[in-house]
Amino acid sequence: MPRITLRQLLDHAAANDYAVPAFNMSNMEQGLAIMKAADETGSPVILQASRGARAYANDLMLARVIDALVEMYPHIPLCMHLDHGNSLATCVSAIRHGFTSVMMDGSLLADGTTPADYADNAAITRKVVELAHAAGVSVEGELGVLGSLETGMGDQEDGHGATGTLSREQLLTDPDEAARFVADTGVDALAVAMGTSHGAYKFTRKPDGDVLAMDVIEAINKRLPDTHLVMHGSSSVPEELREAINTHGGDIRPAWGVPIEEIQRGIRHGVRKVNIDTDLRMAATAAIRRVLTEDPGEFDPRKYLKPAMEAMTAQCRVKFEAFGTAGQAAAIRAKPLAAMAVRA
Ligand code: G3H
Ligand code: 13P
Ligand code: ZN
Repeated sequence: MPRITLRQLLDHAAANDYAVPAFNMSNMEQGLAIMKAADETGSPVILQASRGARAYANDLMLARVIDALVEMYPHIPLCMHLDHGNSLATCVSAIRHGFTSVMMDGSLLADGTTPADYADNAAITRKVVELAHAAGVSVEGELGVLGSLETGMGDQEDGHGATGTLSREQLLTDPDEAARFVADTGVDALAVAMGTSHGAYKFTRKPDGDVLAMDVIEAINKRLPDTHLVMHGSSSVPEELREAINTHGGDIRPAWGVPIEEIQRGIRHGVRKVNIDTDLRMAATAAIRRVLTEDPGEFDPRKYLKPAMEAMTAQCRVKFEAFGTAGQAAAIRAKPLAAMAVRA
């Protein structure tokens, strides 16, 4: 099966009331672990690479790993997506390396830390859409700035995101502006801000509607019923993983993520792509720490990377089942990029 574009995959998800988790990947082990879970559950999959992941793994290596995964699992529809692209050039180089979807995150300026105004965001996103669509590739845009409604702070935990304090207005996507943005840019999917942020420390308590504004998703979905919505920062930060890390010498402060039932509420209101990185990072770290503390003499990476892969696969399985993705792979027929290309 050819690689699938985000547009085709999310259209299928919308027609069948489910969402697809988008798992971050920067190495072979993550790729193998995610695909194993997709295969076991019969799920289509979105693998996404950030700029950091591309720099870590090298574009060529990432592209070849994806080629191998496609060959190993020809029956699994696979969308390769650029996470948080910050410029036209980054998006173009991703397309050249076989990505079938790119995110142009114009909510921040190209420095990755300064919130952009509406006009700048819409202009750069529109440019990327024109170019990507000509190649058949899909585009995700973002309106609103990720950050905490508890503290008003931008999303800087894992080294990128807005710096400093943001207004509530900046931290919550406005439904009318979202409608204008989708019309102005032609994006295939829209990431929205409603209190989620990247990393483990999203909330200092189990989130309620004051700090995780699911009502904003509902309002945007009412205004834009045909637009595929994307939730970033949607790891659930399972307490058992935090405990497992800390039991084996780690030090993760009490932390709350996005409860699965809140994501399921989002899925009932237009959320079709759910970004997850932290939960897999925590699962791998917990497994590696356990092996190395139980056997401090161990130095064969395969002895701790295999359990790490198994732990990541288990996390992916949970998401595929919970988001309704499981069992959908067999019903999807991916069209090649050439068939998706918009001709002038
Ligand atoms: O965008 C957030 C993802 O967790 C990727 O993080 O830039 O450290 O690869 P990264
Ligand atoms: P988490 O840090 O919650 O896993 O979010 C990842 C993400 O949104 C990647 O774009
Ligand atoms: Zn993100």
